[in-house]
Amino acid sequence: MCGIIGYIGQKEAVPVLMEGLKKLEYRGYDSAGVAYIHQNHLALDRSVGKLANLEALMAKKEISSHIGIGHTRWATHGRPSEANAHPHRAGKIVLVHNGIIENFLTLKNELVKKGCAIKSETDSEIVVHLIEQEVVAGKNLEQAVQNVLKEIQGAFALVIFSEDNPDQLIAVRNRCPLVIGMGRGECFVASDIPATLSHTRDYIFLNDGEMALLSSKGVEVKDFEGRKKIKTPITVDWSPVMAEKGGYKHFMLKEIFEQPRAIADTLRGRISLDNGKVSFHEVELSDSFLKNISKIHIVACGTSWHAALVGKFLIEHLARVPVEVDIGSEFRYRDPILSATDLFIAISQSGETADTLAGMQEAKGKGVKTLAVCNVVGSTMARESDGVIYTYAGPEIGVASTKAFTTQLTALFLLALNLGQIRGQIGPEASVDYLKSLVHLPRLIEDILSRENDIIEISKTFFKSRDFLFLGRGINYPIALEGALKLKEISYIHAEGYPAGEMKHGPIALIDENMPVVVLIPRDAVYSKVLSNIMEIKARDGIVIAIVSSMEEEFFKKVDHVF
Ligand code: M6R
Repeated sequence: MCGIIGYIGQKEAVPVLMEGLKKLEYRGYDSAGVAYIHQNHLALDRSVGKLANLEALMAKKEISSHIGIGHTRWATHGRPSEANAHPHRAGKIVLVHNGIIENFLTLKNELVKKGCAIKSETDSEIVVHLIEQEVVAGKNLEQAVQNVLKEIQGAFALVIFSEDNPDQLIAVRNRCPLVIGMGRGECFVASDIPATLSHTRDYIFLNDGEMALLSSKGVEVKDFEGRKKIKTPITVDWSPVMAEKGGYKHFMLKEIFEQPRAIADTLRGRISLDNGKVSFHEVELSDSFLKNISKIHIVACGTSWHAALVGKFLIEHLARVPVEVDIGSEFRYRDPILSATDLFIAISQSGETADTLAGMQEAKGKGVKTLAVCNVVGSTMARESDGVIYTYAGPEIGVASTKAFTTQLTALFLLALNLGQIRGQIGPEASVDYLKSLVHLPRLIEDILSRENDIIEISKTFFKSRDFLFLGRGINYPIALEGALKLKEISYIHAEGYPAGEMKHGPIALIDENMPVVVLIPRDAVYSKVLSNIMEIKARDGIVIAIVSSMEEEFFKKVDHVF
């Protein structure tokens, strides 16, 4: 994932850019670069590999600049190299780009025919040449960008400036996130809020099809045709400290340990232990609508999709409404049957995931009311949906979701209870019981986290394994999927999640003395069924790592590791 940072204002731009790029490092990248104006001339520095390489390069220079853009690149078009790294330059114009220009090959061929010297393999460089041609033809930068926006297709966030106009940065958004940070006598632009949190908490969130003209005096937002748009900044309640590692070795670990706090924040102000009532202030959907919905469609990607699968269980069980769950990238292509009495729920940590957003737009287009369960205040999904339930996890810097997932589950539990109450499926007594259990969650999670060393011990035995299976049944099947996703994403060990009962229909062939199988077996309605699945694994000498909720002597003899 690429990262963008831009600055214009009184401060020295390059240190602001470098700090912003450091905050974006977590997104993963293979090269980085900055562009700025020094002594009235546009300058550009880029390097392959870690940001430290770029830092070392910049440390040798004495630069004074009050405008600049920076980028961390994750190679898509063209391998990681200095030439392919951003910013890209054509004459006196420079830009950074996130996303993909889908028609770049056609545009490139036309440019080459006109004799334009293309230096990189990227789709991004094409855009800067197109802008430069417009400028050479006599357009000002804003008009030039507007004209080029009519030619390019795809998903893009762009930030552009010109040596001839050092008092203006232009930011453009189409299906790639971009936020404008507002300061005093300065403006920031970034692909993600944490990049600028140490400077401001006031943000303007651009919509698709909008461009912003940034100067030290402020921001003007227009649509791609140049019509002015009125935008009000939103203040985010994240502090810069929340986006620091806080003594942890890495962000993911910090975020795992933040779960008790994050879950408590997700519950706060929404529940009453006296009467069992659950209420959301941000859900602007009437009780009469919620009472009569005929079906719920939940759409999400990755970890959020796993949360959606858990949400289906909870909502169907507690509110007795049928729920369909779709992966974001599949939903709009399967011609879903949608009706005005349905409710569409998008689940997304970022509130920006393109496929989930496209699903939401599909539902809205068919007149379906929409609700977003998301973490980022002011994100596109939060703004474009009819109602929103924030998860209050705080900034997610680690790319692998942890606290984002467990706060989504918490929010979905509350939503299921809320719907159950509105639809007369759950009485106050049962609600109070559920809520009493929920408020214990942060403490229970703390207890699990205090046993970190037990987990480290188990992992020492398996870190060289090449494959893992994760099994669960019922509501724990999506949790098994999430466990498998985390293992592949973080350890690069191949892992698959399966419903435990499905194992005998194929995957069992993989089980031998080298195959660790993580089995989720809490004391629930399907406990004995999962126990039978464990016996099937042991009959083939598989290694069982059991995640249990009760301790029975007999059980310990059957499995290899217990947590
Ligand atoms: O921001 P979102 O929740 O919409 O992101 C969707 C997925 O990309 C995300 O959940 C991803 O699968 C996790 N970060 C993986 O740990």
